[in-house]
Amino acid sequence: MSTTVDTRVYNFSAGPATLPLSVLEEIQADLMSYRGTGMSVMELSHRGKTFIEIMEDTAARIRQLLSIPAEYEVLLLQGGGRLQNVMLPMNLITGPGQSADYLLTGFWGVSSSEDVPHFGRLNKAFDGKSCNYSRLPQPGELKLDPTAAYVHMTSNETIHGVQFQQFPETGAVPLVVDASSELMSRPLDISRFGAVYACAQKTSGIAGCTIVIIRRDLIERGGDRVPGYLSYKKHADAADKMLNTPPTFPIYVTGLICKWLQEEVGGLAQMERLNQEKAQVVYDVLDRHSGFYRGHAERSARSLMNAVFFTPNPQMDETFVTEARKHLLSDLRGHRVLGGIRASIYNAMPLEGVQTLAQFMNDFAIRHG
Ligand SMILES: Cc1ncc(COP(=O)(O)O)c(C=O)c1O
Repeated sequence: MSTTVDTRVYNFSAGPATLPLSVLEEIQADLMSYRGTGMSVMELSHRGKTFIEIMEDTAARIRQLLSIPAEYEVLLLQGGGRLQNVMLPMNLITGPGQSADYLLTGFWGVSSSEDVPHFGRLNKAFDGKSCNYSRLPQPGELKLDPTAAYVHMTSNETIHGVQFQQFPETGAVPLVVDASSELMSRPLDISRFGAVYACAQKTSGIAGCTIVIIRRDLIERGGDRVPGYLSYKKHADAADKMLNTPPTFPIYVTGLICKWLQEEVGGLAQMERLNQEKAQVVYDVLDRHSGFYRGHAERSARSLMNAVFFTPNPQMDETFVTEARKHLLSDLRGHRVLGGIRASIYNAMPLEGVQTLAQFMNDFAIRHG
């Protein structure tokens, strides 16, 4: 059986999300016997030479793509974005009196903040609730605490469709970024951050692998105080950076995604240009039919990754999603928190997929407007 392109749809899912076809084909080719080993990656011992090479190659590619400075570690963990909501305060807050600043810019910013009170004081440096998270803070609007353990922000809010183009100045307080729905979609100056993390299943792989890029001094801050799997230090200091059996197959897929970005796309600056072009195609239709569609995000906060919008009413949203599916445009239903329609146009969504969506949106607005 071989992969046939004509059975595939344009998958606008927010994650797990669409993968590049060439990556799927490489996985298929490797599946029964990875590079002459006579076994699949899923069957390789994580302590064997072949898997250690995969692990090192994946971490090296992440470092190259993001030009990660030497004083940062790259950890490939389990537990998704959610586990980082616990590991961060547990490792970085050193006592119950200490606070951490959180920017509540949407569902994920809020979720990230929820476990902080187990470890210290939560300072809401910005709360976008009153505008239903449709905008981002202006410079000067943040209520930062200069003694905070760190400042946490979500660079792209997957559900509310708002994305930072500039990162706030936090002085000596380390800035920690949840980049789960955008890592590898554009260059990032890692030296601006104390830590950047992302679950892989949106823009950098499949579910099961979580990428944590963290500065060595922050790893030491948790030190031996933090138990077992939850300690960054234990992961960073373990042999081959494997404290336990890592998510071997997802790490291999992240490596293939990085290879695709390097060898086929041409790096993250090029990826960003393509993502800007794709997002423009979608937002242009929204603006052309602004009497019919309503975007959720303020124009200046619009995400290049998740375009969230509404037709005139919820029944019409449902008709949109159902009709779109007949045009091979899949997974456009908005998240239950917000409703409406959400088009996730991550790295692997081809321009043709976005153009097909734009054509459909245009025709739909004319027919139902
Ligand atoms: C921005 C962001 N952070 C965190 C998460 C949670 O990731 P996980 O489901 O891997 O725990 C998600 C998932 O959608 C997300 O979009």
